[in-house]
Amino acid sequence: MRDALQVLAVLAAVAAGLWAWRRYHYPSFWLALGFPIVALSVRTSWRRVALGCGLTKKRQRFWFTTVPGLVASTGIVRVKRKWQRIAVDTKPFMWLPLPTRHGWRVTLHTLEGQTPGDYTVAAERLAHSWGVHAIRVSSPGPGRVVLMATMRDPLVKVDELPASPELLKVTVGRLETGKPWLIDFRTVPHWINAGATQSGKSNLANALIVGLAPQPVALVGFDLKGGVEFTPYAPRLSALATCRAESVGLLDDLVALMIDRMGLCRQAGARNIWQLPPGVRPVPVVVLVDELAELYLMADKSEKDEIAKTSTALLRVAQLGRAFGIYLFCCGQRIGSDLGPGVTALRAQCSGRICHRVNDPETATMTLGDLDPAALASARAIAAETPGVAIVASQDGQWYRARSFYVTEQAAEHAARTHAHLAPPWDEITAHLPQPINA
Ligand SMILES: Nc1ncnc2c1ncn2[C@@H]1O[C@H](COP(=O)(O)OP(=O)(O)OP(=O)(O)O)[C@@H](O)[C@H]1O
Ligand SMILES: [Mg+2]
Repeated sequence: MRDALQVLAVLAAVAAGLWAWRRYHYPSFWLALGFPIVALSVRTSWRRVALGCGLTKKRQRFWFTTVPGLVASTGIVRVKRKWQRIAVDTKPFMWLPLPTRHGWRVTLHTLEGQTPGDYTVAAERLAHSWGVHAIRVSSPGPGRVVLMATMRDPLVKVDELPASPELLKVTVGRLETGKPWLIDFRTVPHWINAGATQSGKSNLANALIVGLAPQPVALVGFDLKGGVEFTPYAPRLSALATCRAESVGLLDDLVALMIDRMGLCRQAGARNIWQLPPGVRPVPVVVLVDELAELYLMADKSEKDEIAKTSTALLRVAQLGRAFGIYLFCCGQRIGSDLGPGVTALRAQCSGRICHRVNDPETATMTLGDLDPAALASARAIAAETPGVAIVASQDGQWYRARSFYVTEQAAEHAARTHAHLAPPWDEITAHLPQPINA
């Protein structure tokens, strides 16, 4: 009896110790205990899981098995077995699983006739079979597929916004893989940020403002919500347009600025402003647009000319801006062709795509284009309880589920006021532009 009590006490102490270890230092618990158990179960269950998910192929193999023709019965049933060549289900070869921050990853060799797409289609079935939050599939090379498993949704809680010391590069959140979510305007110059109302679009713009405010860049705002979003950040903005009439003027300035920089680069024999010596290099301009659709919506015919003008100017900025240090970040609830051909052309120029929670499948398709159908399904599955979660696609052709850091308006306002002295005045930037355009 006493022995039994002692054993129980030891077991309880061990259980409490394990619980505390898992609770207070999950990374070491995962590496030392959780991952080896999971890796073993993944390896041992792979044949069953692959078979269940339709990832096996029939292959002729020598197998020690019963031979129907040789089943002999002499009163007692005797089943004969022998080695023979039969068709057996062969699983794809699996390397040893490796631990990651939020789960594990493993490399597989595809079987003949398989493509990474076959694994993408089976990803949800794999996730359910192994009891993990999600499986993402990528292919590092021909014949190889990497399965990346996340044990729990890492985007339920994301930490604080870190500082962004590199020019035009802002860490705005975290990817599902645990890596930082970067918006790097020098790699991907123009972005579309779409999502239903309250999905976290402005929060992302806030994160960008906080990240860019300490950098030597000019920020320009187009706030078609009548200025309610960006006016508090005015101290750090070099220019702000709050209605369509103001937008026309500001866009004219931006086009003129671009043409001026074109001349500067041509004279210096440079292809873009980054090839100019630092002394003469003009300041990069990041243009933030909130409620893009407002620029295109037409109440009556009289607005047609104005819309055509803004649309053309914005498109020119998108087409030529990259080389001359003018970058676009356009937010909107719906950035679709129903707003006119100008929007479709603008969208085609924006290689950075961010799709927050959407209400209808068309908006996800419009934003993410004809990306992997799994990306579209994932965008539609974003829950209203997790604002800031988005599907991100950029130049590498991959898509990621990500969540922005929560940046309150107060934090963005504080950053704008603290770094107000870094805002180059718009008059200064446009000082040497030809007068008729400026007027
Ligand atoms: N990354 C995040 N983490 C936590 N909460 C967030 C996050 N992003 C947004 N939120 C919450 O969601 C609310 C709505 O976000 P936000 O104002 O950015 O939405 P929106 O898409 O701009 O909406 P609207 O179209 O109405 O302007 C915010 O007030 C904030 O509380
Ligand atoms: Mg908003």
